[in-house]
Amino acid sequence: MPQFSKHYQNSVIQISDLSKYYELGDTPICALDHVSFTIDKGEMVFIMGPSGSGKTTLVNLIGGIDHPSGGHIEILGEDIARYSDKDLTLYRKKRLAFVFQFYSLIPTLTARENVELTLELTHQNRKEIGKIAEEHLALVGLEHRMDNYPSQLSGGERQRVAVARALAKSPDILLVDEPTGQLDQKTGDSIVELIRKISKEQNKTVLLVTHDLELARYADRIITLRSGKIVSDELNTQAPVLAPTPAPVPVQVPLIVDRR
Ligand SMILES: Nc1ncnc2c1ncn2[C@@H]1O[C@H](COP(=O)(O)OP(=O)(O)OP(=O)(O)O)[C@@H](O)[C@H]1O
Ligand SMILES: [Mg+2]
Repeated sequence: MPQFSKHYQNSVIQISDLSKYYELGDTPICALDHVSFTIDKGEMVFIMGPSGSGKTTLVNLIGGIDHPSGGHIEILGEDIARYSDKDLTLYRKKRLAFVFQFYSLIPTLTARENVELTLELTHQNRKEIGKIAEEHLALVGLEHRMDNYPSQLSGGERQRVAVARALAKSPDILLVDEPTGQLDQKTGDSIVELIRKISKEQNKTVLLVTHDLELARYADRIITLRSGKIVSDELNTQAPVLAPTPAPVPVQVPLIVDRR
């Protein structure tokens, strides 16, 4: 896998002139039309816009699920638009985590086992895997439901497992596509609030697609697409302030101890 350059500064995602055409019969469909923007480390950016405006296409390209027709996708200083499929698989494994609308949990595994399975891709030590899974299920408030199967959990609880599974991987970027599509407003709100809280505590970069204007208050910034183009890119000054947890201040131990 190509080494990530050390030259990037604060930006984690740099998109320039990104286009995507789908071949459908004789007429190509333009899903993304020369899109450019930059996202900094720790930013929580929402992608909004009407159905068919290119939101999922954009997330899939950044997620290395699909190849662009043109343009550049620099992730931590490396252009993934030029990656082979093999490099993209490694990139997804090491750098990304996803949360989707339909949870995509494995039904025959418990909540704990669903989180552990993902960790097995990146960790070797069983004890460590168990500990990280438990910690993250506790972070999403499911310490008492770890050994339940997805069918025994509510929609909101399933999505919490999906969030725990995604963040347990400690990704550089969390990609979230319509996380509340299956949930009622209140439960959906609590999921997005939770994603915001944990990602701010862990200083993670989040790209979240939603139709729901009610959720926009949780964004640091909102990029709106229409017909594959960016029609607005605005900071949300009302976002709840949740700074990353500051590193503990080291205790000053005097070098010379006065023993008189
Ligand atoms: N695999 C595909 N083949 C052909 N056209 C596609 C394909 N995927 C998406 N499109 C088209 O590209 C455009 C953008 O689709 P996309 O799924 O990115 O929209 P979206 O903003 O995520 O919509 P929604 O809000 O409905 O999920 C649409 O016109 C869609 O029909
Ligand atoms: Mg979509």
